[in-house]
Amino acid sequence: MSSTLPDLAALHAIGAAQQPTYPDQEAVAANVARLRRMPPLVFAGECDDLKAKMAAVSRGESFLLQGGDCAETFEEVTADNVSKKLRVLLQMAVILTYAGSVPVVKLGRLAGQYAKPRSSDMETRDGVTLPAYRGDVVNGFDFTPEARIPDPHRLLDAYNASAATLNLVRAFVTGGYADLRQVHTWNTDFVKSSSAGQRYEAMAAEIDKALGFMGAIGVDAEELKRVDFHSSHEALLLEYEHAMTRIDSRTDKPYNVSGHFVWIGERTRQLDGAHVEYFRHIQNPIGCKLGPSASADDAIALAARLNPDNEAGRLTFITRFGAGKIREGLPELVEKVTAAGVQVAWVCDPMHGNTFESSTGYKTRRFDDVIEEVQGFFDVHRALGTWPGGVLVEMTGDDVTECIGGGEEIDEAGLAHRYESVVDPRLNRVQSLELAFLVAEMLRTV
Ligand code: PEP
Ligand code: CO
Repeated sequence: MSSTLPDLAALHAIGAAQQPTYPDQEAVAANVARLRRMPPLVFAGECDDLKAKMAAVSRGESFLLQGGDCAETFEEVTADNVSKKLRVLLQMAVILTYAGSVPVVKLGRLAGQYAKPRSSDMETRDGVTLPAYRGDVVNGFDFTPEARIPDPHRLLDAYNASAATLNLVRAFVTGGYADLRQVHTWNTDFVKSSSAGQRYEAMAAEIDKALGFMGAIGVDAEELKRVDFHSSHEALLLEYEHAMTRIDSRTDKPYNVSGHFVWIGERTRQLDGAHVEYFRHIQNPIGCKLGPSASADDAIALAARLNPDNEAGRLTFITRFGAGKIREGLPELVEKVTAAGVQVAWVCDPMHGNTFESSTGYKTRRFDDVIEEVQGFFDVHRALGTWPGGVLVEMTGDDVTECIGGGEEIDEAGLAHRYESVVDPRLNRVQSLELAFLVAEMLRTV
């Protein structure tokens, strides 16, 4: 892997998809320069630790749980929101670990998930056309010219929001909150009355019993008191990602220090594009989304470019076919990539191939489609003898109504009740626990 990272202008010269048009280039340069001086949010050594964990995923020894909002917003950087999201992720992880009997690598889709690819540069409402919302690091969600014009001051705002989020997450996961003996307390309020919540309660009681037994025989392992938790986001906005890339003093190589794991989106994975060129140089564990249009040859070529040393743990393919396409599309991809000897972890994103607009005008997904895609993913890997390495879900710690179905049976009319996502619909808390129980069952039969 080359260690000479091209400069920002060189990356733009290659041609970068999904970038905003900033009206004031001087202000961009000033803010990028400030960002370059800010301390790292994560350490290179932590990225290496995660890479080792992802290598275990690629060998079939662990399962990845990656989750969080489609798009974080600055307004949602509150103690309440972050802790709720983390709590559900911890609950999901414990379900997968206990009911699925497999070690779980926990990866938040948070503390940096502020840039979004869009299908169109502009958005028109009632005859008014403005730049599309590209995530809080670029512009504001309000449909006004002031909010929608890309503002480079937001680069620092995104850094600060990410720092605040990650600081809270780090305090939570090491400061006793993630202690397994707290397993009951993560199950609060409305969730308790749902059937997934009751199932969780029963499982937590079993875990308590096991912990009591371990305590009685004198086992007091550190592993019970804290969890390893890492951060991830789509590294989309080149100004931000490039400014947050630093040369590691130990290895003399570039790392993206804005998150432990970063991925390339479905719309920016062009082999000769700026994103692949950037990702090729950084040393982090990385992901690349693969939709139904990706051929096995595309995937093999991406792997050769992104991971020329074929290092285990370095590359994760995150497939997002859609429930209707996965059973026909995935087998050839996995088979050929495996036959080519490519070291990769396979992760299922059952969200982005299953989005549609409800009759009531909301961007939504059916819980059943999400589950059907994960089931297809497991079935295909089982048939090929490869390891279904994990899931990437868009979820939140609140009882929003953005996805249809699940035990609460949210219907199209019910979406209006509490729809808060600024981009894609997220599983709510009960739906997230339900998904975890269903995936745990799939894991037991692998
Ligand atoms: C996403 O993960 O929010 C996303 C935009 O996904 P994709 O690149 O797969 O469309
Ligand atoms: Co999304």
